[in-house]
Amino acid sequence: MKNSELIEKLKCDRNLSDDEFKVLLESDAFDEFLYRAADEKRRSIYGDEVYIRGLIEFTNYCRNNCYYCGIRRDNKKVERYRLTKEEILTCCEEGYRLGFRTFVLQGGEDSYYTDTLLCGIISEIHEHFSDCAITLSVGENSKESYRNFFNAGATRYLLRHETADAEHYQKLHPYSMSLDNRKRCLYTLKEIEYQVGSGFMVGAPYQKTEFLIEDLRFLQKLKPDMIGIGPYITHTDTPFASFENGSMLLTLRLISVLRLMFPYALIPSTTALGTIHSQGRELGLKAGANVIMPNLSPVGVRKLYSLYENKICTGEEAAQCRGCLEQRVKSAGYRIVTSIGNRIKEIE
Ligand code: SAM
Ligand code: FES
Repeated sequence: MKNSELIEKLKCDRNLSDDEFKVLLESDAFDEFLYRAADEKRRSIYGDEVYIRGLIEFTNYCRNNCYYCGIRRDNKKVERYRLTKEEILTCCEEGYRLGFRTFVLQGGEDSYYTDTLLCGIISEIHEHFSDCAITLSVGENSKESYRNFFNAGATRYLLRHETADAEHYQKLHPYSMSLDNRKRCLYTLKEIEYQVGSGFMVGAPYQKTEFLIEDLRFLQKLKPDMIGIGPYITHTDTPFASFENGSMLLTLRLISVLRLMFPYALIPSTTALGTIHSQGRELGLKAGANVIMPNLSPVGVRKLYSLYENKICTGEEAAQCRGCLEQRVKSAGYRIVTSIGNRIKEIE
């Protein structure tokens, strides 16, 4: 089969066999066809629109100990912080002024924020910014907690599955965590009718092409509204200090594959992609991504939310980031829109 025929097949069927995916993911011979096909597909549905989500990293305390993550519990070198409700609302006010209509509250799994406290924060954001969507990204929780957050006004939830291979999952996480529980959480979120985002790191330690194909198969079952992928980036103060960063090219290739498999999905061009390459986010958009998630956290704490090293945009004010991104998105040939950016629902 010629290179362009394989891409044509993926475009038409939104699927390939495992063997075909393996060929596609392991070679750079298809990349130019892939990027072009993915960009065409994205433009046919979303035009040149890029949706923005304002990220508020409100706590770097975490009870978990994921081996790859810079803010894991056992990293004693991190200076820990928590934002108050007032500080979070100030971030939202600034974000609103800059045109953000979705706020993403992300943090470690921090039991300081009880359901009552977090629901209070969510409902106050909901009251003050009633035309905005609230997204949560606070890890694994009980069904009851997820329901409480939803009832308080959070309607979207980001929880990457990280890897769909159970053995690989166990190599990335301590035994207190399991792929089964992660999946249970994701299906519970769907059942509650959150718009769900999932995804994985590209080039995570011990990853193989076969696992990436399992990731694609899992996403086919889950059918998330958003799919977030970014390269794994090493953090010195983790057990994975000696592993290499994930590859930008493989990340771009996977963004294009995802766009062709899930034409309607919201796919962010992630900060991690911008961290491993100065043009990473622009290239991500050109490969089929249609969302960016600039940081709205107070500048004073940004460096402390250090999931990985050399994270970009930790010194700029939100307004500076917004201006910089406007230019970057424009230079890539797209346009930031300030609407709530709902997923376009596919008519099946
Ligand atoms: N606690 C929440 C959770 O676990 O979903 C949200 C915070 S968690 C830090 C957000 C995401 O950061 C994870 O899903 C993971 O994929 C990503 N991440 C963590 N460490 C990373 C690293 N070293 N390189 C790239 N991405 C990383
Ligand atoms: Fe919890 Fe990374 S280990 S956020």
